[in-house]
Amino acid sequence: MNHDFLWGGATASYQCEGAWKEDDKVKSMWDHYLHEENLENGDIASDHYHRYEEDIRMMAEGGQNSYRFSLSWPRIIKNKEGDVNEKGIEFYHKILDTCKKYGIEPFVTIYHWDLPQYWEETGGWLNEEVCYAYQHYAKVCFDNFKDKITHWVTFNEPKWFICSGYLIGNYPPAHQNPQETIKAAFHVMYANALGVKAFREGNYPGNIGIVHSFTPVNGIDDTVETKIAMRYADNYCNNWILDTAAKGEIPIDLLTALSKIYDISFIKPKHLKTIKENTVDFLGLNYYSRTLVKPYTEGETVLIVNHKGKESKGESKVILKGWFEQVLHDPNMTYTEWDTEIYPKGLQEGLIEVYQRYHLPIYITENGVGVQEDVSVDQVQDDYRIAFMNDHINAIMNAMDEGVDVKGYYAWSSFDLYSWKNGCKKRYGLVAVDFEDNLKRKPKKSYYWYKEMIQNNGKTI
Ligand code: BG6
Repeated sequence: MNHDFLWGGATASYQCEGAWKEDDKVKSMWDHYLHEENLENGDIASDHYHRYEEDIRMMAEGGQNSYRFSLSWPRIIKNKEGDVNEKGIEFYHKILDTCKKYGIEPFVTIYHWDLPQYWEETGGWLNEEVCYAYQHYAKVCFDNFKDKITHWVTFNEPKWFICSGYLIGNYPPAHQNPQETIKAAFHVMYANALGVKAFREGNYPGNIGIVHSFTPVNGIDDTVETKIAMRYADNYCNNWILDTAAKGEIPIDLLTALSKIYDISFIKPKHLKTIKENTVDFLGLNYYSRTLVKPYTEGETVLIVNHKGKESKGESKVILKGWFEQVLHDPNMTYTEWDTEIYPKGLQEGLIEVYQRYHLPIYITENGVGVQEDVSVDQVQDDYRIAFMNDHINAIMNAMDEGVDVKGYYAWSSFDLYSWKNGCKKRYGLVAVDFEDNLKRKPKKSYYWYKEMIQNNGKTI
């Protein structure tokens, strides 16, 4: 194991900062949506905005050498004209200086879903202008933080926020429209290329990558029908992000399939040229589970949208008519409380496949398990989290033994925070945050386990 390996935890601005309108921050689309719908929101969240010093110190005391977090666009850019909020810039300088003080390497995502509401009101990701606004925002970040950040991420999980926002409809702007999904997805990948372009043109130090919600695709059997379904699923789940960002090419069979049903005339040669010329330096993979598929049979493909935990589950019909069906529950497998299959082997297999395809360095930028926990106790005994992380880290080590260039691992999440649409009851943290008792921080058992594992240089149980 390489001693430069980055070990840390991850968070996202909306999910942990709170201070939703402090220091001239404007509204994000999530502030707007959750307030309008009267849903649990991240107005306060873990109050990282005021407690970042304690949080970062605890990372260092937990043996971690890196912290993955995101910058908030509505904290940094005040309006459509692109004016900069100096107080937002100052806040992230404080975070970065604190990281330095504690020997923590920052790994920074430019966009983790909190689009300014003033852009959402112009059509959000359906509006090509937003791509250029993103490029401006990214450039402001590069210019201001170039001396303190060398690991940059353009976007967190395009598939997840676009499909949830425009296809399934459980995230803002809560549309269910396949045609819009395709357009918004394309715009995000174009904006990714524009961000990379700005980074290259400015000659900033360091590297830039994209983070993908990676679900390797497995089939239920070896038939030709299943293999065709798997290819469709892989295009839907992975390839439109990874091929486009890493090779500068949108999978041709995906474009062909889409063009038979939808209008893709908004894709112009100038966009494709920018995408081709501006590929990423590394891939970040968030791994929670795989996608198990079978051939399409009848009706429409249905994905379960599991956003409320045990109490209720939403269901949504989606576009992929005739493409594939997802096997949602296999009685032989183990699932989390939120019905996510626990499948570490998928990470090992998936890493090998992705590395063979793209030959780029890989970071595991998120991995973890969401559970309802009683945090009033002195120490949460989260042996299930230890087992989960242990098995997944072990899968990474096996892939590395087979030659895959993995450069870092980030637990999701560094500490308990707001989970999109699940509120604060779905906890992922290594450190408990007591939302009922003054947001008190208490390390869980997994925090100490992680520390020891890092000290032993990745040695799992
Ligand atoms: C990833 C996101 O999709 O999964 C995180 O990057 C998110 O922001 C995490 O919180 C877990 O998802 P959830 O919905 O359980 O909070």
